[in-house]
Amino acid sequence: MASAFSCMLFCLSFFLLASTLSSCARYTSGHNQLRWPTKSPKLTAERLIRGLNLFPKHSINIGSSNIDDQSLDEAAPQIVEKEFKFNVLGSSGASLQDFAQHAGYYRLPNTKAARMFYLFFESRISKNDPVVIWLTGGPGCSSEVALFYENGPFKIANNLSLWWNDFGWDKASNIIFVDQPTGTGFSETTDDSDIRHDENGVSNDLYNFLQEFSKGHPEFAGNDFYITGESYAGHYIPALASRVNQGNKNKEGIHINLKGFAIGNGLTNPAIQYKAYTDYALGKNLISKSDYDSINQLVPDCEDQIAACGTDGESTCASAYESCTQIFNAIMEIAGNINYYDVRKKCTGSLCYDFSNMETFLNKKTTRDALGVGDIEFVSCSSEVYNAMLNDWMRNLEVGIPALLEDGIKLLVYAGEEDLICNWLGNSRWVQAMKWSGQKQFGAAPTVPFVVDGAEAGQLKSHGPLAFLKVHNAGHMVPMDQPNAALQMIKSWMGGKLTTNGTKHGVSLQ
Ligand SMILES: *[C@@H]1O[C@H](CO)[C@@H](O)[C@H](O)[C@H]1NC(C)=O
Ligand SMILES: *[C@@H]1O[C@H](CO)[C@@H](O)[C@H](O)[C@H]1NC(C)=O
Repeated sequence: MASAFSCMLFCLSFFLLASTLSSCARYTSGHNQLRWPTKSPKLTAERLIRGLNLFPKHSINIGSSNIDDQSLDEAAPQIVEKEFKFNVLGSSGASLQDFAQHAGYYRLPNTKAARMFYLFFESRISKNDPVVIWLTGGPGCSSEVALFYENGPFKIANNLSLWWNDFGWDKASNIIFVDQPTGTGFSETTDDSDIRHDENGVSNDLYNFLQEFSKGHPEFAGNDFYITGESYAGHYIPALASRVNQGNKNKEGIHINLKGFAIGNGLTNPAIQYKAYTDYALGKNLISKSDYDSINQLVPDCEDQIAACGTDGESTCASAYESCTQIFNAIMEIAGNINYYDVRKKCTGSLCYDFSNMETFLNKKTTRDALGVGDIEFVSCSSEVYNAMLNDWMRNLEVGIPALLEDGIKLLVYAGEEDLICNWLGNSRWVQAMKWSGQKQFGAAPTVPFVVDGAEAGQLKSHGPLAFLKVHNAGHMVPMDQPNAALQMIKSWMGGKLTTNGTKHGVSLQ
């Protein structure tokens, strides 16, 4: 979550990288008074992106390429997709003839000139596996970050060779990675007015894409469908789930067989999650009890401003962002050079993570030719997209979730326990505080070990359609840190087996 520096959560977005943070916040405490100067969010985002060792040439994909006029022609097909094959080392575990990999552009309706880029990987196991869409956060980071470093079909070596990922989620699903909102990754426009500022814009674009995708892939249209992602996608995911559910109920188009949505280390309910920062930090010994007491003085203002953002919107949302961000910054100022995506780690130099191989690989001419993106340069994380979403940041996206649960749509909230920015504690709290018909039973449900290959990989609590999983030995990016456990998690959750129902001894997988 962000914070901070606001950060992008990229959640993956990563961004947030902390190290940079500390230099931004000055802790001037005089007589109970704490004041942290705030940097412009865009500058913050730029520093955070550099902290991931990413150096996109452009801060957003606007007009940087020559979109050919033909593809903008109303009569042109809305989706242009091609099959591609990378040279991948190791074993895919399946016959290459049995599954295909696609790259495509979708011409977004209700925009002047926006095109959404996506990659679609058919399951290495079975075409009948569910269809999954993955959304990386930021806001403004490309989903290719997850593809190459978390749960995609391949991993990238230092010499830019690709290797099959034994724990890619394409071993349990037919998975789509989307670059969004417009301006991120290879998604682009030539017109500023196409840039999105809220979940309305984001969820409509994704819904329209899913409609067209289903038309283009009728062989998958009947499969179960799940929405997944990380970090700032804690906003996107519930918004999209509600949009799809509404479309299905209104019979707006093709029925999308939405069965569930899963949020990994997400930012969903800011009022609860920002308040949890100091508790998490104290519990991890990142701050002392006296730091804790003084930083907590910032909480009431943050809460008031978030409440105002919920009702008044717009300008109060920006000031809520500023106010709440100070809580995070204050913690980082004290915690020093830690990686706020994984508090076990330090940030060395200006880097917390190094995702630069992805950027280099995707900008190679041979790669771009294979993907059919032409001259478009890859914007790994867009500081301008981040900035454009500022008034969306403090919105509470939990509000639409109870209605989805009542309709029997499953929710899994999971969190790597070593992440500060979207920590498990804040996530666990909003999940428990959520009002729905099963709230009491969820609260009373036991917490049981989640066992993978004989070892406890996490702690699970569930009731009915709702499950919460804390994952051990993982930071913000669970599939990167615990690839096997993450694959088993998603597989058993989709299969209806990630439940504490009737178990006393925990859930044992494989
Ligand atoms: C790239 O590195 C991997 C080991 O990480 C090695 O197996 C492979 O042969 C290398 N490829 C080239 C072209 O050097
Ligand atoms: C959980 O248990 C209840 C009561 O035994 C049962 O009705 C329900 O179907 C079970 N749910 C799952 C997911 O097994």
